[in-house]
Amino acid sequence: MEQQQITAWNVKGAVVNGVVQAIDYEKILVQFGSQLLTPRLIERFEKLTGRKAHHYMRRGIFYSHRDFDKILDLYEQGKKFYLYTGRGPSSKSLHAGHMIPFIFCQYLQEAFDVPIVIQMTDDEKFLVNNMTMQEGALCLKNNVKDIIACGFDLKKTFIFSNFRYYSGLLPNILKVNKRLTVNDSNKAFGFSELDCIGKFGFPAVQMVPCFSDSFPHIFGASSSVPCLIPCAIDQDVYFRLLRRVVAPQLKYKKPSLLHSKFFPALQGAQTKMSASVSSSSIFCDDSMEVIEKKIMEGAQCENVDTSDDTKVTNNVVFTYLTFYMEDDQMLDKIKADYSAKLISKMELKKILVTVLQEFFLNFQQKRKTVTDELVEQFMTVREMKFD
Ligand code: TRP
Repeated sequence: MEQQQITAWNVKGAVVNGVVQAIDYEKILVQFGSQLLTPRLIERFEKLTGRKAHHYMRRGIFYSHRDFDKILDLYEQGKKFYLYTGRGPSSKSLHAGHMIPFIFCQYLQEAFDVPIVIQMTDDEKFLVNNMTMQEGALCLKNNVKDIIACGFDLKKTFIFSNFRYYSGLLPNILKVNKRLTVNDSNKAFGFSELDCIGKFGFPAVQMVPCFSDSFPHIFGASSSVPCLIPCAIDQDVYFRLLRRVVAPQLKYKKPSLLHSKFFPALQGAQTKMSASVSSSSIFCDDSMEVIEKKIMEGAQCENVDTSDDTKVTNNVVFTYLTFYMEDDQMLDKIKADYSAKLISKMELKKILVTVLQEFFLNFQQKRKTVTDELVEQFMTVREMKFD
């Protein structure tokens, strides 16, 4: 038996008798020491914002948090806070899993009416993946277009690449790196002595956007504007270390977090969808024919009990529906019919194909309207009204 691995750069289920298992999300929560996003918190969010909770919240896709209640307190008191998320540009197009945090952040930006900063870690992908800087630059621009097409508000959104905005982050990177020991980083990230030294320096870069004084053009000199980070749970390690070791020493506020589950690969819930394995992924720029082919021929669709939402399901087709089909009633009906064997595997797949095609056709139309100029506007350091 091999334990499941959830690290910043690798996600893999446990191995039992040579068979890779589905990811066990409860185990991650216990191991990382985060809190369950309870129905009570979700209800409080709905009451305060007057918005129906996003289906990612209702269906346990964003399922874990740290201090989300504190963010709700702030919102209730009319106090300021901001959102922070990011993306390592490693493929020319985002895939169906990469979209999840951005779809969710766009929703939260609207619901809370707050600014968001989005970090593009082109430096990380150069250090960790085998990518040239030229390839990285191409991915960056295309990814930023995909992100903008999710509907962010230009007046309240700053998208920055580390290459370009590094000097703005540098004072805080230095402060963090002065406090962070090799020992603490090693324990958190499991670096090996053969890893390049650049990797050791990277965590601070992902941490410092949680400090509001990294963005004086948005927050002025204030170093105490609280931050909420929606992200997939494998990214928690940076912020766990920041909360435990760095923030108290530097007297910065600890960021709050909302954690999501992973969007599984077409072949199964043992790992997340990966852009570097193109047969495992549905890309945002896939044609309608390709989407159909990938789902009909490639998606894993075991006949498992889908009656219990909380159970780790190994049926990728059904899991994709919980991510992309918004209508609760329709989803419940499909679930019931599939469990009762009233719909076949092929029929279930066809339903998913229709849902994905509708979503991505619509997305591709919006994406076409995102110009190079608009990219530049989102990425320009500019004053933002924040009141
Ligand atoms: N490391 C992330 C990735 O590889 C990118 C990232 C940077 C990020 N900052 C973040 C993700 C903050 C979530 C939250 O995609």
